[in-house]
Parts: sequence; structure tokens; C-alpha cells
Amino acid sequence: MPQHLATRCVHAGSHTDVPTQGTVAPIQTSTAYGYLHTDERHYPRYFNTPNQQRVATKVASLEGAEAGVLFASGMAAISTTLFAYLKPGDHVLMQTGLYGGTTAFAEHDLKAIGVNVSYTAGLSVLDFEAGFRQNTKVVYLETPSNPLLNLVDIEAVASLCRKHGAISMIDNTFASPISQTPHLLGIDIVLHSATKYLGGHSDITAGIAVGSSAHMEQVLAKARHLGGSCEAQTAALLERSIKTLALRVRQQTENAQAMAEWLEGREEVAKVNYPGLTNHPQHELAKRQMHGFGGMLSFELTQGIDPVAFQQNLKLVASAMSLGGVDTSVCSAYLTSHGSISAERRAAEGISDQLIRMSLGIEDVRDLQKDVAQAF
Ligand SMILES: Cc1ncc(COP(=O)(O)O)c(C=O)c1O
Repeated sequence: MPQHLATRCVHAGSHTDVPTQGTVAPIQTSTAYGYLHTDERHYPRYFNTPNQQRVATKVASLEGAEAGVLFASGMAAISTTLFAYLKPGDHVLMQTGLYGGTTAFAEHDLKAIGVNVSYTAGLSVLDFEAGFRQNTKVVYLETPSNPLLNLVDIEAVASLCRKHGAISMIDNTFASPISQTPHLLGIDIVLHSATKYLGGHSDITAGIAVGSSAHMEQVLAKARHLGGSCEAQTAALLERSIKTLALRVRQQTENAQAMAEWLEGREEVAKVNYPGLTNHPQHELAKRQMHGFGGMLSFELTQGIDPVAFQQNLKLVASAMSLGGVDTSVCSAYLTSHGSISAERRAAEGISDQLIRMSLGIEDVRDLQKDVAQAF
């Protein structure tokens, strides 16, 4: 029986400083490692230095996977992993309504090398089934999705992928391994922007892919060519941050639930998207496949309220582009995460200019509600 998640956050992959018995591992910044004494070849761009490996081991453990590869950003993890599996003539089926950077990568870079890219018409398992083609190599999910918090039935889609012989990948950034462990539901490769919850303090950029050892070997082979590795100081900060991941996400989830319920009662708000609300269309699915509903929500301001003025009025809550930090932040998706895709595409995906995405931090939620109320 593996240890519980909160214990693994602290201890998995950890290592004492052997000469001193210090409980925290040293930061090893060397970029030149000896090789004559060993068969191993350590080098930062081989993704195998001690600080890189400790984080990869920790996150793999949290996700219930065999191995992981730590990258310099979420997009380095996502783009390298997709490039590792897709060649000209292959088809990738992507969930509709992904993080804008992933959609932009698929549209510009996967298409540029002759990969066929298509998106599901909706989020049901039937929509995924209908999207398969003879040459479908990869199916790519993001649930809960950014910024609408839409869900996909992970277990059902993973099983479809096995039936069709396709590799399944998921961006699990919004949930973090504390709220959802998709590899245990059958997904082959789990990806994270570690810039978000794993880092958790809005001060580092990193990304990670985890899965079976065989899949990670394939990802590593491509990663060594593309070179998006994470340097030691960042890896050490990330290792430290993940020790408090379970604590942070627990408080963020509690705050998100309280904020979502409070926003629902406000006349300035037309709609609240949060999987923890009983009126979320996929609340039952969320209860089944998530361990917690997470710290992210989004809401639609009523037409009379200017979304930019609302954000400028906030005093405690930051209007900032990232998410998953200990400090609460909001942003307009059309100006940030989805600014790189067309207005038509945003409209088709249901992302209006009135939509505000909120990432709950660990403050006292009553202070956050007070700030939002005065900003309205
Ligand atoms: C869901 C999701 N995936 C991936 C990324 C990309 O991560 P990074 O900015 O670390 O490259 C982001 C960034 O906002 C994101 O929100």
C-alpha cells in the first residue's frame, strides 16, 4: 500500500545530504560530471542531474506513475511530448477548449510538420469516439479545462484510446495530483505546467511529464534533442514547493468552494463555473474522478460590468496572468491564456469577454469576498 498523497509530497524522491545528514538535499549546479568512473552520463540536458531526478521521482510518485521528465516550462513538456509521438501523416485528436498555448502549438507547429490535428465537437465520450480516424496516434485531454472548468470522463476516454491503439495524454495542471490522478484512471502520459500548483508561489517556471518507464524513455529521447531542461536552482525550489502541495491545494479548494457559492448569490454575476457546485453539469463526474474539486473557478460578469474596470478595482486580489499560487489572482482569458487564438474560435468555445478566471490562494476567503464585493 503506497503512502498517502500528503506524505508522498514531503518524502517521495527525497534524499538526505549524506555527508551532513541534513534533511534537505543539496542543490547541485554542476554542468560537468565525471564519466570515466561510471556507465552513467549525467548532464543537465540529459534530464538526469540529481535535482532534476528528485522532482521527477516525486511527481511520478504523486501521480502513481513509474517515471517522469522535468522540463523548463509546461509548454516545453507539452510540445516535446507531442513531438515525441507524432510524425507527418499521423492524426492527433484534441479535446475542444484547451489552454490557448496548446491550441496555438497544435495549429502552428504540429500542422507545420504535417500532423493532422482535429478537435472533438464536444466533451462527451461519444464526441471522442466520433473523432477517431484510421491514423489517430494521440488523444489529448485537459480536464478540468482552462478557463471554463469543463470535464471529460477520463476513464472512459482512456479505455477508448486503448481500444483504438492510441496514446492518451492529459494536461492535469488545473487539478494537480492532489485533486486528480489520471494515470491511475488509465491515461498513458500526464503533463503539468509546474509553474502553477506544483510551484505554487508564482515564482518559478517548469513543466513535467510522467508515465510508464517505456513512455518516459520515448519522451526523453526527444527531450534531449529539443533541450528544454530545467536548471538546478529551479528544480530545488520546486522540490521544496511540492512538500506543501497537499496543504496548499486543500486550502485553495476550500476557498474556491466558498467563493463559488458566494458568487452564485451575487447579482453582478451571471454564471459561475466550478465543478464543486451541485449545478455544475458534470458535478457527478467530478465526484467520481476527482479527489477534490480544486482551486480554480471562472464566472461571467453581467453585461453592465466592465471586466477590465472590475479587475482594476481589486485591491487584495491580483489581476495577474498565471494561476495556482498561494495568492489569489484573476484574469480575463481573452486577454491572457486565450489571447493567442482568434475571437471566432473563443466565441465557438464559449469564452466570452465577460468571463473572469479566478485562481484561489490560501488567504482567508472572507477577505477575498470583501475585496471582490467592493470591486463590483
Ligand atoms: C492548463 C495549462 N497548461 C499548460 C500551460 C503552459 O505552462 P507554462 O506557462 O509553464 O509553459 C498553462 C499556462 O498557463 C496552463 O494554464
